[in-house]
Amino acid sequence: MNLVLFGPPGVGKGTQGSRLADEFGLSHLAMGDILRAAVRNGTEAGLKAKAFMDEGKLVPDAVVVAMIEDEIAGKESNGFLLDGFPRNVPQAEALDQMLAGHNMGIDHVIFMDAPESNLLERLSGRLICRACGFGFHRHYSPPREAGKCDRCGGELYQREDDREDVIAKRLHVYREQTAPLLDYYKDKPGFAKLDASGEMDSVYAALKQAVEG
Ligand code: AP5
Ligand code: MG
Repeated sequence: MNLVLFGPPGVGKGTQGSRLADEFGLSHLAMGDILRAAVRNGTEAGLKAKAFMDEGKLVPDAVVVAMIEDEIAGKESNGFLLDGFPRNVPQAEALDQMLAGHNMGIDHVIFMDAPESNLLERLSGRLICRACGFGFHRHYSPPREAGKCDRCGGELYQREDDREDVIAKRLHVYREQTAPLLDYYKDKPGFAKLDASGEMDSVYAALKQAVEG
């Protein structure tokens, strides 16, 4: 099963995507995580991407398309779950072309949406483990011990682009460049729209139902 999850910043793509990928044995390919790892490792792609990410802008298509193709080609699993890619229509076209070249396709495209008030609350309270990348929220899924990851004991931090000014920019970029993906996908087979404004377990149940049919 190959899946695409798309939706605004903070809607829960990472949270729900990692849970679904674990349960179904899929490779969770989260473009933002892949880019942050490249920045940390100082790779050529990471060096190109950093300034765009710090400002909440999209990294150039050529950079992310090449990175995602490497990931898809290099993974052996029951399928993949793309989270945060594609993020504009040219990326969606590149993905279709790339998959056709590897004799693959997309089974489900899930559009997750929630009101902006939810997104702001979720992003401003998010905490991430520096060691294993697991996500928490100050109020909605707090760690057992403040500042420490429940899973691995790593240190929790706030993402640099989760500052108020960068969040506003990311939401703007989403509306201008990513929201048009809805028209690209809405009439294709396997498309579903998911109300992601509820609490985490109920969103997960609806997501599972959308992919299990
Ligand atoms: P990326 O890392 O993908 O950021 P994003 O799309 O802005 O999405 P987020 O990761 O912020 O949100 P999410 O939907 O994963 O929410 P989460 O599950 O964490 O991209 C970062 C940057 O990289 C971009 O700005 C761009 O520069 C670059 N980039 C990435 N992909 C690119 C591409 N394809 N092309 C070009 N550039 C690209 O949840 C958020 C918080 O809410 C968490 O704390 C969570 O615990 C909590 N939460 C989740 N669900 C619920 C719920 N139901 N109720 C209450 N709290 C909840
Ligand atoms: Mg994410």
